[in-house]
Amino acid sequence: MAADAREGLSRSPKELAPKYFYDERGSELFDRITALPEYYPTRCERAILNRHAPEIVEGMEELVELGSGTASKTRALLYAMAGVGSLRRYVPFDVDGSVVALCEEELTELYPGLVVHGVVGDFEHDLGKIPPGERRLFAFLGGTIGNFHEGERADFLTRIRALMGATDRLVLGADLVKDRGTLEAAYDDSEGVTAEFNRNVLRVLNDGLGADFDPESFDHVARWVAPCSRIEMLLRSVREQTVSIPGAELEVSFAEGEEMRTEISTKFTPARIEAELANAGLALERQLTDPDGLFAVSVAAPK
Ligand code: SAH
Ligand code: AVI
Repeated sequence: MAADAREGLSRSPKELAPKYFYDERGSELFDRITALPEYYPTRCERAILNRHAPEIVEGMEELVELGSGTASKTRALLYAMAGVGSLRRYVPFDVDGSVVALCEEELTELYPGLVVHGVVGDFEHDLGKIPPGERRLFAFLGGTIGNFHEGERADFLTRIRALMGATDRLVLGADLVKDRGTLEAAYDDSEGVTAEFNRNVLRVLNDGLGADFDPESFDHVARWVAPCSRIEMLLRSVREQTVSIPGAELEVSFAEGEEMRTEISTKFTPARIEAELANAGLALERQLTDPDGLFAVSVAAPK
């Protein structure tokens, strides 16, 4: 965290990595976002998974979920696997230990006999902690793929592909391009939950590095950047201020109105998803969308 803070805050414009949203409070705020009327992705993806779970999990015996969170939508996949008697193991992988522990507890209770092998880790460093297996369905849901930059996406998909054997599959959720109004409302809800989620990154730095960010002195900004096909979330300093970050041996100054980027959320076309999977050595088997075409769930196999 110290190295990332030093690197990101010495850039111009300043930037923080979105993985630092997610401590226990951040994961709770994210779950609240998923229930907001403006935040369509979870609703749409849930509808697709509920409807198509049996075909998505066909032949699979294990579910390896990357960035599992509280696994609320995943339950449709687990239910379908359990229904045909093929569910052997669930591997939730997440950087926030609180959600991994919760999944272990809840899913072991829901499916007695199911082996839940939680992994607390970072996509960047810890994919090697995923236990080997066969007939594994790797699930990367929620549109989290959109939170990576283009090069990071290619690298991540290639590393997942390298972990996969011939009997494994990937199910990938990705948000689709749509009108600016719908997109910006989804990232700037009327209750202000997304604003609190955005500011949580400052609280995480305060806790982790002894920093003295005053979250209330940063405004939440969400804007559609059409040429990059992405929503950007930023924190805008309401006044000139200096923040001390002892854990990173850093003092950082912000000008009044200065913006710091905290997340990108890229939106795709179905063809782009197929092309990026293909570039990583993954052949599209199915691509499913909700009736309004807002969100896509793609199933791919090693080529
Ligand atoms: N899959 C869930 C949660 C999405 S929120 C859903 O679809 O609703 C994104 C999740 O990815 C969070 O739980 C967060 O903790 C996790 N995450 C973000 N960056 C990560 C990283 N670098 N390594 C591992 N997990 C990460
Ligand atoms: C986790 N990820 C896919 C969410 C998104 O939509 O990019 C995170 C989020 N940011 C603001 N609201 C939700």
